[in-house]
Amino acid sequence: MLKRFSISLEDELLSIFDEHIMARSYTNRSEAIRDLIRKAFIKDEWQADKMVMGVISLVYDHHQHKLQEKVTLVQHDYHHHIVSTTHVHMDHDNCLEVIVVRGKAKEVQELADQLSALRGVRDANLAMSSTGEFLH
Ligand code: NI
Repeated sequence: MLKRFSISLEDELLSIFDEHIMARSYTNRSEAIRDLIRKAFIKDEWQADKMVMGVISLVYDHHQHKLQEKVTLVQHDYHHHIVSTTHVHMDHDNCLEVIVVRGKAKEVQELADQLSALRGVRDANLAMSSTGEFLH
C-alpha cells in the first residue's frame, strides 16, 4: 500500500532536485525519492556486512604477463561468491570482465579489492546492489 507524506524543501534545493530527476528521466518526484531511499538502505546493508549482490567490472590488458591466470585464480578462491562471469574482448589488447557476485558485503569487497590490485588491471569497479530489503 502506498502512503503519502509531504516534504518541505528550500526553493533552491527543490529546483536542483527537479533538474536532477529530469536529467535522469524520472516522470515524477515520488519515484525519484523512492530510489534515493532504496539507495540509502542498500548502502546500509553493505555497511552492516549483510548478504548483498553486486557487479565487479574489470578492464585489463591480456598481454600483461600471467594477468589472465591471476584473474582466474582469484576468482576460484572466491568461487562461492561468484554467480557468473562474462568476458568481453574489447579490442586487440584489452579485455572487459563483468563478474556478478553475491555474499557477505565484506567478502565481496575483498574479492573486488584483490582483483583491482592486480598489476595490469586498468579499471576496476564494484557496483553495490541489493533489493533494499535484506537478502537471505
Ligand atoms: Ni579478452
